[in-house]
Amino acid sequence: MPALSPTLNVMVGAARKAARQIRRDFNEVEQLQVSRKGAADFVSQSDLAAEKILREELHKARPDYGFVLEESGVVAGKDAEHRWHVDPIDGTTNFIHGVPHFCISIGLERAGAPVAGVVYNPVTDELYVAERGKGAFLNDKRLRVSGRREMASALFATGLNLGPNGNPPLFYAQYAALTQISAGIRRFGSAALDLCYVAAGRYDGFWEIGLNSWDTCAGIVMVREAGGQVTDMNGGGDVLGNKGIVAGNQELHPALVKALKAVKA
Ligand code: IPD
Ligand code: CA
Repeated sequence: MPALSPTLNVMVGAARKAARQIRRDFNEVEQLQVSRKGAADFVSQSDLAAEKILREELHKARPDYGFVLEESGVVAGKDAEHRWHVDPIDGTTNFIHGVPHFCISIGLERAGAPVAGVVYNPVTDELYVAERGKGAFLNDKRLRVSGRREMASALFATGLNLGPNGNPPLFYAQYAALTQISAGIRRFGSAALDLCYVAAGRYDGFWEIGLNSWDTCAGIVMVREAGGQVTDMNGGGDVLGNKGIVAGNQELHPALVKALKAVKA
């Protein structure tokens, strides 16, 4: 990994500090008191404690930036251009079940566009970093999206969002349709890591309806800096809004958008 920019340094420092708390809690996951927030959306003490650390660390370094936080919502900053999009634990259900596939996701938005991202899995110690114009990295390795061109040999990932912008009937229809024309669909339960896996060339693409900007902001920068494409579900540029997200390599992204658009619930 080349020397980190001051911005990435701040983000990595915050992620590593929150990770210590999360690792401790993951080791005691059975003792955690977990309360139910919604059908598939749990919030744990660990989530809240980690978000507090991230918020404090990021605020200390950039006191004027605003926040969009999974647990605490939108916090306006004096600087109207910059906002952190923070998910303290993306993959909460995995976390609660003792499955080591979850991460801290920190994205930075500048004037409406995602410009930097840090995604860190504290159990596997996989650290993904990316900044606009400077590439994407997994630990020391530069990332590059896959070179696959055929839908039939492509491996995709997706997720089912049960939040207000999710659409389960459409999801099931998309899942069925894409299963027929691809090599397979994975649903591992962390959208931020799914996007990083696309950046790493492990998956050829990813889509999901109903995600929030804290799930995706960091991962979007990762995919783009690894040479891939990210759009909303219509193929447009509203990637931080609630229009769904589609990511993939340059060849397969348009085919994936087209195949998804053709599906009616
Ligand atoms: C969830 C994960 C999951 C996705 C859901 C998200 P959470 O976030 O990213 O992969 O399918 O839509 O809500 O609740 O684990 O932070
Ligand atoms: Ca999330």
